[in-house]
Amino acid sequence: MSRIKELPKSTSHLLSCTQVITSVQSVVKELLENALDSHATSVEIKLENFGLEKIEVKDNGDGIIKDDILFVAKPHCTSKITSHLDLVKIITYGFRGEALAAICAVADLAITTKTADEEFGYTYTFDHNGNILSSEPCPCNQGTSVVVTNLFNNVPVRKQLYRPEKKKKEELRIIEDILVAFGCILTRIRFVLYHNRNLIWQKSVVDRTIDGLRLALGDAADYMEDCEYVDEETQLIGSQVFNEDNTFPFNPLHFPPHPLSVGVKVCSHVTLDQ
Ligand SMILES: Nc1ncnc2c1ncn2[C@@H]1O[C@H](COP(=O)(O)OP(=O)(O)OP(=O)(O)O)[C@@H](O)[C@H]1O
Ligand SMILES: [Mg+2]
Repeated sequence: MSRIKELPKSTSHLLSCTQVITSVQSVVKELLENALDSHATSVEIKLENFGLEKIEVKDNGDGIIKDDILFVAKPHCTSKITSHLDLVKIITYGFRGEALAAICAVADLAITTKTADEEFGYTYTFDHNGNILSSEPCPCNQGTSVVVTNLFNNVPVRKQLYRPEKKKKEELRIIEDILVAFGCILTRIRFVLYHNRNLIWQKSVVDRTIDGLRLALGDAADYMEDCEYVDEETQLIGSQVFNEDNTFPFNPLHFPPHPLSVGVKVCSHVTLDQ
């Protein structure tokens, strides 16, 4: 008799979801990317107990239309591509249609959303399989607010990793780094990060990249020099950190610049006076 058994669907689903959502920072990154994909110009992130109790990401983007909400947290459902053929022309951060489904599987999810055409927004709660549990009208502005609570309560091994205070603080620092990286390239977007109602970091809307870099990196931006860079994916060659009009020299039509790599490139060209 074979010793290899097929796992129950519920188990294999949970296991694959813990590969997508591995940490508090991965939840924040996925929700942040969704906000940016929805054309938001303001993204507010609020964490409670380092995100283990609550992660809230609120944007002022397009909102989610009623017909879409049924599929929003279902695996492999996305509005960003229709087949793998679209993979060559992706201009959004997300495309797999699995982030919200994975978050749902390992946490409690609530989404409040309103589009420009709607008079009222709605708050929806979801079960671990991405089905809607409840929906209630809610007066709110255009955009989407995603609230994730009780992260990893059903995955004790993962939750245990966050026992040490050091690990929780490290995670908060990484989340701040992610925001700073996004803030470096997204000048016209406002970012705010709170932890336990304390303001941790914020960046307002600015016109010029250099001003965004100053807000994101502080004095370090003053030490940046012109540089030569080669983008690994597109092999585009640039000659300076800033274009003449002080905008960032990446063309979003070639690829959505990923701040986590762009940030490293920028930082690697920072020269500090010793
Ligand atoms: N903040 C948001 N504003 C508007 N629509 C959203 C928002 N978050 C999610 N959505 C909608 O829900 C869908 C599912 O989101 P999800 O993050 O699970 O997948 P995705 O972004 O398409 O791909 P990926 O899994 O790679 O992130 C999105 O395709 C989008 O249509
Ligand atoms: Mg996404």
